[in-house]
Amino acid sequence: MAKQKNQKLGKLLGYDREGSVIRLHYEGAEASVDILREDLIKLFVAYESGEDESYAVEEDLHQDVDISLRKGSGARARLTLKTGRLSLVIGDDFTNAIYDTKGNLLAASGDKELVKPARMTSETEEKLGGIFGAVSDNKTVMEEEGHENPLEKIKQVPAFIVTRQMHADEHFYGLGDKTGFLDKRGYAFDNWNSDIPQTHTEQVTATYKSIPFLIVRRDQGVLGFFYDNPCRSHIDLGRDDPELYYYQANGGNHVEYILYSPDMVGLVSLYTELTGRQPLPQLWTLGYQQSRLGYDSASVFRRIADQMRAYRIPCDAIHFDIDYMDGYRVFTWDRKYYGDCPQELLKDLHKRGFHAVPIIDPGVKKDPGYAVYDEGIKGDYFARDRNGQVYVNAVWPGDTVFPDFGRRQVRDWWAGKEKILTDWGFDATWDDMNEPASFRGELPDDVCFHREDQPISHAKIHNVYGYLMSKATSQGLRKANGKRPFVITRATYAGGQKYATVWTGDNQSIWSHLQMMIPQLCNLGLSGFSLAGTDIGGFSGDANGELMARWIEAAVFSPLFRNHSAVFCLFQEPWQFTSRVLDIYREYVELRYRLLPYLYDLCRVTEFTGLPLMRPLVLHYPNDPNVFAINDQFLVGEDLMAAPVVDQGKTRRLVYFPQGTWYDYFTGTVYEGGSYQVVSAALDQLPLFARAGAIIPNWEVMQYVGEREYDSLILKVFPGRGSYRHYRDNGEDFDYRQGKVDIYEFIQEDGRLSGRQTVNGYGHPYAHIRVEEPLGGNSYELK
Ligand code: GLC
Repeated sequence: MAKQKNQKLGKLLGYDREGSVIRLHYEGAEASVDILREDLIKLFVAYESGEDESYAVEEDLHQDVDISLRKGSGARARLTLKTGRLSLVIGDDFTNAIYDTKGNLLAASGDKELVKPARMTSETEEKLGGIFGAVSDNKTVMEEEGHENPLEKIKQVPAFIVTRQMHADEHFYGLGDKTGFLDKRGYAFDNWNSDIPQTHTEQVTATYKSIPFLIVRRDQGVLGFFYDNPCRSHIDLGRDDPELYYYQANGGNHVEYILYSPDMVGLVSLYTELTGRQPLPQLWTLGYQQSRLGYDSASVFRRIADQMRAYRIPCDAIHFDIDYMDGYRVFTWDRKYYGDCPQELLKDLHKRGFHAVPIIDPGVKKDPGYAVYDEGIKGDYFARDRNGQVYVNAVWPGDTVFPDFGRRQVRDWWAGKEKILTDWGFDATWDDMNEPASFRGELPDDVCFHREDQPISHAKIHNVYGYLMSKATSQGLRKANGKRPFVITRATYAGGQKYATVWTGDNQSIWSHLQMMIPQLCNLGLSGFSLAGTDIGGFSGDANGELMARWIEAAVFSPLFRNHSAVFCLFQEPWQFTSRVLDIYREYVELRYRLLPYLYDLCRVTEFTGLPLMRPLVLHYPNDPNVFAINDQFLVGEDLMAAPVVDQGKTRRLVYFPQGTWYDYFTGTVYEGGSYQVVSAALDQLPLFARAGAIIPNWEVMQYVGEREYDSLILKVFPGRGSYRHYRDNGEDFDYRQGKVDIYEFIQEDGRLSGRQTVNGYGHPYAHIRVEEPLGGNSYELK
């Protein structure tokens, strides 16, 4: 029985069990609890009919679990459900409390009504009626003037709300790419994929992605709540009411996974097991990438490539923004400015060691006679309006229609188009504008798409549109060239990490956007998206030399390492500033190339554990209150810690060292953990530290991956106890899954380093393994 909107479930009358699923019979409706694992439980209430298959969860994670069930007696009897790791006490109205096995309360449903705070008096509302009230068709004066009508948002009635009590020791993380700070406590966010050209301050509550996965850190352990419902939703973490945090959805069902782990590492690992892990990328995709909207002819691309090499800035890829298309028609080539033959330009770039990444938007120009449009019309692949006409809005090419990616047939058609790009010589695909963005207002909620054969409204598919597009792109690309697909997407949904790398959309060349890069990429990492990046230097607005220098330093470990900028703003290639900035830029891109083996090893770790490359300190030190809200430092793996300067004019900064001993990565200066220290950071200095015992692999700098064979491994060794596993494969295809890998194991104890190759499936042993001890300046051959 589907429940009425916002109606309470009422009294718990009884329950029955079928395998892992406990069905709860309430006065008003049915609810269910599915115990997938001892630490993974799914709550479900059908607010709409039936249960849809998840987009995000594509694997069945059920394990055999011993479950004990006990229902109390009396008027408000509750059901207690226990696994080996958790117990859940469920009462009337589907309220629940979650305990660990020691009986510690980890979370409990709100014990009071959520009263949303007033934002205006009723008199104000009345007085403002003229501005907020409708004047023409459905539009208010404000909307006529191009402003959002705030009443719309305030008055939206959610389909259901899930509230929980807030505790003093709670800190909140995850939620994907949301704006603001690392710890989300005290803020509220909307899940509605949005194209946001304005500055992304913490007042911008909806971003490009919807990842309704919340990590709740408590003293006794870490909980995760994954609200797997793609409809528009809202998550408030103590902003409306400091005693409650809540989730509300505008439609769909209550699908809530409860995840538990004693630590945050375990929790991220569990969540990524549920929604999938970011697969190992091609090695070159970790290299530096250059992009700009406005590289608008073949000669510009050749010039950029020449300059990259002439200025000796290592670079692996150049991106092709929409300029390369013929009138912004996707899967076409502008012959006028790029030459008749795409293969010619792309071959030329390849010869010089560059990969080429083309942008593709979902919107197809409405243009009879244009093959992609004609095929879509013939196959009935485009979304339709409520009257059954193909729905038209505007994007870059003018009138545009939207593929219905909810249907396999449409995804397959789109995936097949990748072959056009790879035949030209492109190596990857950059999916953009797939919120979907549209210039003549948002697509109305009732535009008709499909969930396979079932018609569904735009409101229901909006947040997974980018997810489905990138899934099709990834599958098409893999089929087209057999390599590990490199897809970058702007919009996506939880679980999208299986298919694409992401970037954070249109940031700006301002310090606050540089500052936000750190918490944003860290939270994306905790939300499964290990491979993520921001536009280095900022997309819109004019950057200056100081900002560029600080951005490249802070972004050295950004998994996606791309400088991208908008047309009309200052050119942003590294040589556009002073020679000092160029030198700094080069120094840090070179550092990136030296550390490629470390980053690639971490990508391998991600594939197996889900742990990201860029990590907030709280991931590894969840019991140290000094790290709960660190926004300007982060770990890279477990062994490196970066503390970039992200403020204009600063040449020193405060660094917090967590437990243990830390070494300055470049000078070997020792810092004892548990302390704050002021470190110097001139414009060319990135404060970077290694944990005692760290063994950090380096390669020699090349101008691009594969310029020459990497025949030497250089180990930077920081005294202490530690071990390290280094991994190598062909960096390109799926042979590694057949065991074609080389593995090396190194151990450092009692002042001695030893190591050996333990697997030789790839068969490219290093000719030299050199050890460098930054402290004593010693260097010797291990092999
Ligand atoms: C969007 C993208 C941006 C791109 C532009 C033109 O704004 O976010 O990266 O350059 O479209 O394609």
